Amino acid sequence: MSAENIVESIINRASVFKNRSVLDRSYVPDSLPHRERHLALLAELFKPIITSPGSVSTVALLIGDIGVGKTVTAHVFGRELVKVAEKKGIKLRYVHVNCHNARTLYSIVQSIATALGLNIPFRGLSPREMMLIVLNHMKRYDLHTIVTLDEFNYFIQVAGNDAVYFLVRIYDEYPEAEKRLHYILITRSLEVLGSLDPATESYITKHIIKFEPYKAAELFDILKQRRDLAFYENTVSDEVLEYVAELEGYDKGGKGNARAAIEMLLRAGVIADYEGSQYVKIEHVRKAVGEIREELLVDISDNLQFLQLHELMILKAIIRKLKSSGESYVKIGDAEEEYRYLCERYNTKPRRHTQVYEYIRNLKNMGIINTKISGKGFRGRTTLISVPVPLEPLEKRVDELIDKKLIERD
Ligand SMILES: Nc1ncnc2c1ncn2[C@@H]1O[C@H](COP(=O)(O)OP(=O)(O)OP(=O)(O)O)[C@@H](O)[C@H]1O
Ligand SMILES: [Mg+2]
Repeated sequence: MSAENIVESIINRASVFKNRSVLDRSYVPDSLPHRERHLALLAELFKPIITSPGSVSTVALLIGDIGVGKTVTAHVFGRELVKVAEKKGIKLRYVHVNCHNARTLYSIVQSIATALGLNIPFRGLSPREMMLIVLNHMKRYDLHTIVTLDEFNYFIQVAGNDAVYFLVRIYDEYPEAEKRLHYILITRSLEVLGSLDPATESYITKHIIKFEPYKAAELFDILKQRRDLAFYENTVSDEVLEYVAELEGYDKGGKGNARAAIEMLLRAGVIADYEGSQYVKIEHVRKAVGEIREELLVDISDNLQFLQLHELMILKAIIRKLKSSGESYVKIGDAEEEYRYLCERYNTKPRRHTQVYEYIRNLKNMGIINTKISGKGFRGRTTLISVPVPLEPLEKRVDELIDKKLIERD
């Protein structure tokens, strides 16, 4: 195929994606499943801007691990509060500054000024002088502003205590002034605040809103919202979403990171497209995991060589069942049945039931398979087995090892 044909055929090929940009990092959704309480707490804190504008300056601190929705919650809150303010005839601006990019007092004040549309030449002015211009501007145009300082820890580290003090306690110096400037500070942990002097620290930790890592069921709802917007109907099943949610869910041993979950879904979709598949399958998610966590694949391959013949055969049975069903899990009973069939095929005597379960526990302890107890939807409770890596290459490696063991045996 010519280069032109390759490129053109890919472009013209059907895609599972309806609107991929919904899965971009910068996308801000209409609503935030499982962050309603956080939005309500923010609304409570910043309510005086609307009910008695100018009365108090509020500082809220958002804390939580990676990918738990701190940034997006601040964005959504800002967007919504601006709308409410507008209805009430109050001119509110929302400014989001990332301190990873703007780490000095100078660059932060400049970011605020620019976001407020102040196009004066700042060169030669000190941060303090710039700040006074900003405050005067807000007064003249009767503006109120919420400034989010995202990844605030970088600012603390680089700019230090005095700069933090200057920014958030600006009104200490002008006690008579109307309070038009408010802050949302975001950081992953409280640790870095320890480097501030106690007065400053206690001032910014007055209103802390904690963001917990997401549980699998919560990630499922978040993924569902994106799925419906990003993918064509019926291309991504609930089962696929559940599988991704369980990989990341905090209650399932994951990090509870929504960003990682969304990116996993995106990757699985890209792989499905690449393979020309009409649907995103569980195997596409396994491949996405394999891409993101290459070390997992390597670890598992390394561990395979320590397995005995019958452990390998049970693993092969699991893989075969997962492949033929296309599902995320195989019931332990079905895996055992397939194992017995394989034994017949390889002309070896199957191990006893209890031994088989022992082997399965061993495979789990080595991280080669995952297990969970079935919940609703299955009659009775049974152990369900899944494999975290792509099935094809795994089966190939297992086959090689089985062949080797069989030759050694004969
Ligand atoms: N409740 C939610 N509903 C919808 N999308 C969410 C929700 N929580 C997080 N997300 C999405 O997950 C991704 C990560 O969220 P966000 O960037 O807000 O995390 P963060 O807490 O700021 O992480 P970091 O500490 O790495 O900056 C974003 O794409 C965001 O839109
Ligand atoms: Mg963030």
